[in-house]
Amino acid sequence: MSGSASPGSGGQLRLGVNIDHVATIRNARGGDFPDPVRAAHLAADAGADGITAHLREDRRHITDRDLERMMGEIRLPLNLEMAATDEMLAIALRHRPHAACIVPEKREERTTEGGLDAAGQANSLKRFVDQLCAANIRVSLFIEPNPQQIEAAVRLGAPVVELHTGRYAHLSGKEQTLELQRLADAAALAAKNGIEPHAGHGLTYDNVVPVAAIPQLRELNIGHFLIGEAIFTGLDASVLRMRELMDSAR
Ligand code: PXP
Repeated sequence: MSGSASPGSGGQLRLGVNIDHVATIRNARGGDFPDPVRAAHLAADAGADGITAHLREDRRHITDRDLERMMGEIRLPLNLEMAATDEMLAIALRHRPHAACIVPEKREERTTEGGLDAAGQANSLKRFVDQLCAANIRVSLFIEPNPQQIEAAVRLGAPVVELHTGRYAHLSGKEQTLELQRLADAAALAAKNGIEPHAGHGLTYDNVVPVAAIPQLRELNIGHFLIGEAIFTGLDASVLRMRELMDSAR
């Protein structure tokens, strides 16, 4: 998550491990177990390049205390997923994580459904992008892979976009191939405009390779599948296997 390579310059694809769902399991019973910060350490040891966590308005998984501990304890760069609200902006500016990914958030959704409408909400997003960038936090916008959203990200001055792979993950056959092409086109358009493209949501061992093969992508953020698979194989093994699959695509 250093973001040091120039967009589209080739090189390794970073893996950001999202540890939200370790906290989901912990919160099902209250208490301290399992600990998402311990998961972050394990993911780091297994070859993750960064840790991602979404502090939701309703704190359904990651809590303010988790964020505080991660900022103090983990050695990998932290990518904080956040809604564009004043509360989250204040928290991000206080903690100054390496990166902040602005995501749409609806209380009733089970997970982040659909990307941010950067094109339709450019006016309200501008001050979030500007203030986070001014604090040296690497801002990314979680958007659908379409040219209007990339163009809006360019106008907003976001250094990074994260392309939503949820649709790709849920489709199959020809429709999935078409969605993959949209992801590839969006990544190329972002890189051409000096924006570093990332991708994530719904990625698994079975669908990650074609996405990882998109040459302009610099980072994938993966959570739910890795934590679920860890129940059977351990987190180190699930992260290692994902890393191998991503590397095999390059
Ligand atoms: N990227 C973003 C912006 C997300 O909101 C999420 C889900 O929290 C992910 C990546 C990871 O998605 P998944 O948990 O399906 O791997």
